[in-house]
Amino acid sequence: MRDNVTIIDHPLIRHKITMLRDKNTGTNEFRKLVEEIAMLMGYEAMRDLPTEEVQIETPIETCMAPMIAGRKLAIVPILRAGLGMVNGLLSLTPTAKVGHIGMYRDEETHEPQEYYCKLPQPIDERLIIVTDPMLATGGSAVDAVDQIKKHGGVNIKFMAIIAAPEGLKRLSETHPDIQIYVGQVDRCLNKDAYICPGLGDAGDRIFGTK
Ligand code: PRP
Ligand code: URA
Repeated sequence: MRDNVTIIDHPLIRHKITMLRDKNTGTNEFRKLVEEIAMLMGYEAMRDLPTEEVQIETPIETCMAPMIAGRKLAIVPILRAGLGMVNGLLSLTPTAKVGHIGMYRDEETHEPQEYYCKLPQPIDERLIIVTDPMLATGGSAVDAVDQIKKHGGVNIKFMAIIAAPEGLKRLSETHPDIQIYVGQVDRCLNKDAYICPGLGDAGDRIFGTK
């Protein structure tokens, strides 16, 4: 495993991912779990978030104390499924800005097709956290990071709940300068490029489509 990859191996995350995988978990619960897992992963991914000293008054005296420099953070979900992780991260950093990258996988080729990109400015000054629950072939993640870099993004992290070994390798090797956070690494991809055992189609399970 390359050193730009962190597996966030915590019992709470493992437990919630097991519930996500269960095909009997319905849309409402699935959504809540994705949000909760994103929040728990965010705790680790934001460990090096910049803080700034502000002056406050305690009941005892005036002092300088650290606060998150929230305006410097951008959360960028890959549509659609990445949207499910946004509120979990915003619950930690409510002042973060949110960008969007629209992408879907072609069902035949499994290649990502981009249809939208809107990022908060100035993007070059922000820590950018890209979210997508699934890192399968890695095509969508690699393209999303390519796009963000083309728009000037520099300080980029990528967060996925479940990754296939193939996708994790591809993303970490193509973009060795970004930090990647993953909840669990699964066994492999099947012939349709779905993660095994995985959880099925994350977008469909979050939004109740199909
Ligand atoms: C899923 C998932 C990722 C992508 C991962 O999105 O949310 O974006 O597939 O696959 P990859 O690593 O092989 O590129 P999908 O294309 O199903 O779109 P959706 O979120 O709109 O359902
Ligand atoms: N996208 C998903 O939603 N699930 C997979 O297993 C692979 C890609």
